[in-house]
Amino acid sequence: MKQSEYVVIKAIEDGVNVIGLTRGADTRFHHSEKLDKGEVMVAQFTEHTSAIKIRGKANIITSFGEVESEAKEK
Ligand code: TRP
Repeated sequence: MKQSEYVVIKAIEDGVNVIGLTRGADTRFHHSEKLDKGEVMVAQFTEHTSAIKIRGKANIITSFGEVESEAKEK
């Protein structure tokens, strides 16, 4: 399989969720990873993962550039 892109996610607050969504006919959650402040996850898109959803405040770096997700207002 062709080597796919990496995505770097750095949590800016505790309890950031990195959720992997399935590839194929149905798109559902298949993995959830919780990051605390300062923790970094380096992930790839794979045969099983077509999308990644991030909940909470984090810095996300991809080949398209850098974006910051925001925390939900309470
Ligand atoms: N088993 C998953 C896969 O190979 C692991 C994974 C890869 C993953 N990238 C991810 C999980 C991104 C969550 C987010 O697809």
